[in-house]
Amino acid sequence: MKRRVLLLAPVLLAACAAPHQSALEPAGPQAEIIARLWWAFLAITGVVWLVTLGFFLYALIRGRRRTAPADDPRSAQLQLRGVVIATIATVVVLLGLALTDFFAVRQLGALAVRAPEALTIRVTGHQWWWEITYEDSTASRSLTTANELHIPVGRPVLLRVTSHDVIHSLWIPNLHGKRDLIPGYTSSTWIRADSVGVYRGQCAEFCGHQHAKMALLVIAEPEAEFAAWYSAQLEPARVPADSLARRGQEIFLAAPCVMCHAIRGTPAGGRLGPELTHLASRRTLAAGTLPNRRGQLAGWILDPQHVKPGNRMPSHNLEPAQLQALLHYLESLR
Ligand code: CUA
Repeated sequence: MKRRVLLLAPVLLAACAAPHQSALEPAGPQAEIIARLWWAFLAITGVVWLVTLGFFLYALIRGRRRTAPADDPRSAQLQLRGVVIATIATVVVLLGLALTDFFAVRQLGALAVRAPEALTIRVTGHQWWWEITYEDSTASRSLTTANELHIPVGRPVLLRVTSHDVIHSLWIPNLHGKRDLIPGYTSSTWIRADSVGVYRGQCAEFCGHQHAKMALLVIAEPEAEFAAWYSAQLEPARVPADSLARRGQEIFLAAPCVMCHAIRGTPAGGRLGPELTHLASRRTLAAGTLPNRRGQLAGWILDPQHVKPGNRMPSHNLEPAQLQALLHYLESLR
C-alpha cells in the first residue's frame, strides 16, 4: 500500500503544480457565466434524456404485454395525443435553452464595458505561437513579449486579437470562451481573473501541423507583483556579465537567430519569431511545448524540427563550446 502511494506521489504532485485548464473551474466573471450556462444545459438535457429513456423502457415493457389489436381507434387517438404533447414539450425545452443562452450572452455583453483601470493587450496569433503586446498611450511603456500573459488580479483586461497568418482561436477556459483570431481583422474580448493562479490557454481552431502545440500561460498575480514584472520586462536585456555570456551574445548576433528574433538593447531586431529580451523569465519554450530549462533549450536550438515538426525555426549546427556559451547567455536574459 505504502509503495503504491509512493509510486502515485509524482503523479499527484504533478497534478497540483500543473496550470489550471477547465471551463468548470471559473476564475473570473466571464467564465462563471459560461460555466453556469453549461450546468443549466446539462441539467435540462439530462432531464430530457431521463424522461425519454423512461418512455422508451415503458414502451418496451408495455409492447410485450399488449393484447389489443393495433387498429383500435382509441389507441390511435392516444398515440396522436402523445405526439402533440411531445411536440409541445420539445418546443418549450428548446425555447428554454435558447432563452438561457440569450441571457448569458447579454450578461457577457454587460461585462464588456470600458473601465478606466482596464488594461489593453493585443494578442496576435502566429503559426504556432502567440505574440503579446501591452498597449500604452506612452510609447516607451508599451511592451511586446510572447506566449505568457501576465495580468493583475481583479482588473478588467481588454484583449484585442488578430492573426498574422491563418485563423487561430484563443481559449483560456478558466477565464472565458473562445475567440477567433482572424488575419487582417481585429476583434476584442474582455477577461478578468478574480483569483491568483496560472491558467493554461490553447489554440482552439485547427491552424496547421502544430496546432496542438500552440499554448499560452496566463499568470494572474496581485497588482504589486504585476507592476514589478511589468517594469522588469520594460528594461532592455541584461548586458552580459562575464566572458562566457559575452561569447554567447556574439554567437547569437552572428548566427541566423537575429533574422527572426529581437533582443532589446542589442542589434537583434527580427520580428518573425518570439521576442527574447527576457526569455529566461518565461516558464515554457515554443508556446508551451517544453519547460524552460537548459537541457530543453539546448534540444530546441539544435533540432527544433524534431520537437515541433513544421515550425519556422531551422536547426543549428553549433560546436559544443558554442552551444554552452549561447545557453549561458540566453539563460542570463531574466
Ligand atoms: Cu493556432 Cu490552432
